[in-house]
Amino acid sequence: MDRQAIERAKEHFGKLLEEQMKRMEALRSAPDWVDYAKLDTIRIGILGGDGIGPFIAKESKRILAELLKDEISSKRVVMEDIEGLTIENRAKHGKAIPDDVLAEIKKYHVTLKGPTTTPRKGDPWPNIESCNVALRKELDLFANVRPVRVPEQGIDWIFFRENTEDVYALGSRGIEVDADIAIDFRLISAPGADRIARLAFEHAKKQGRTRVTCVTKANVVKTTDGRFLENFYRIAKDYPGIQADDWYIDIMTAKLVDEKRRRDFQVLCLPNLYGDILTDEAAEFQGGVGTAGSANIGKQYAMFEAIHGSAPRMVTEGRAGHADPASMIRAAAMLVGHIGRPDKQRLLEAALDVCGQYERKLVVTGRTDGASGRDYAEYVMQTMSDPRLLARWEAYRGGKESKR
Ligand code: IPM
Ligand code: MG
Repeated sequence: MDRQAIERAKEHFGKLLEEQMKRMEALRSAPDWVDYAKLDTIRIGILGGDGIGPFIAKESKRILAELLKDEISSKRVVMEDIEGLTIENRAKHGKAIPDDVLAEIKKYHVTLKGPTTTPRKGDPWPNIESCNVALRKELDLFANVRPVRVPEQGIDWIFFRENTEDVYALGSRGIEVDADIAIDFRLISAPGADRIARLAFEHAKKQGRTRVTCVTKANVVKTTDGRFLENFYRIAKDYPGIQADDWYIDIMTAKLVDEKRRRDFQVLCLPNLYGDILTDEAAEFQGGVGTAGSANIGKQYAMFEAIHGSAPRMVTEGRAGHADPASMIRAAAMLVGHIGRPDKQRLLEAALDVCGQYERKLVVTGRTDGASGRDYAEYVMQTMSDPRLLARWEAYRGGKESKR
């Protein structure tokens, strides 16, 4: 038995614990929510990302500029590009986020980010941490909020995925103990579990939702999922009008395809990795991950992004201009709502529903036989500027007009 390997592993584990205990202190003394209404200027940064990212980011930015044109011309909102979050630059610095780029990002209240390449073992890139994961941690974006709606099937879900803990907290800090044993760590903290549960219940309360469902595997992963669940029910006590229940991740994955039961779920609250997996499955009912947006919310900062990857193959095959910008445009809509314009969020989301789910005059297929991202964005903008948009949208939703 290699005693030295055991000692090395213990020492490494000790360091991780020290860091995490410091994180707990920081978390407990963190400043409260930013009040956007009180800011003179709201700063929006655009991060293009890798692969198809810059292509869909450009279209999303055009739509944002149109939607916020009054705020931008009155300087209430400033929107700028942030350079340097590319895989080439990250590899050059050997860091998930180069220091100067992180400093730049922190100058913006909210960012809209294109997908970024996440290297893994065996890739041509150094095996650095995912910059998504690093950004979520650096800016303490503890809630990953992912709505999925398919009105004609009665699906209206919103996922509150914890975004800074679980296997992600120490995902790139595992231990290769010896030639045989590799160990990763999973961490759930009480403040971490509390704040995500509270946000889910607050959302339910504000939106008049009547049920919040927690998803874990607490029957097997007893310590960490056990804590997540226990804290969930503790927070639930503060919301007596809202039904709180819980499911295990395996059966929940099955129930999402059960047409009779799935429409009953409303708000879901779950640890990071289950949330990662379940939200991809959920997005599939809406038309795939290319159609879903994602908000990464913290008390000081927020970052909005597409939930799909950077599809480098589309670039090498010359199809990047045909990548679907819908997911990133949905993220842009969430951004607009987050900074205090829910009316404009609603307008853009209605346009996206009309274009993507009902009318479908243009369809992006990801191949050159489909619409280009630019044409699709134009279609969304035209739809958005139609004064009858909301009435059309309501009519489609109510099934008063037949689906084409
Ligand atoms: C997501 C993505 C990321 C995650 C990857 C790119 C690290 O899958 O945002 O869901 O696992 O969180
Ligand atoms: Mg994912």
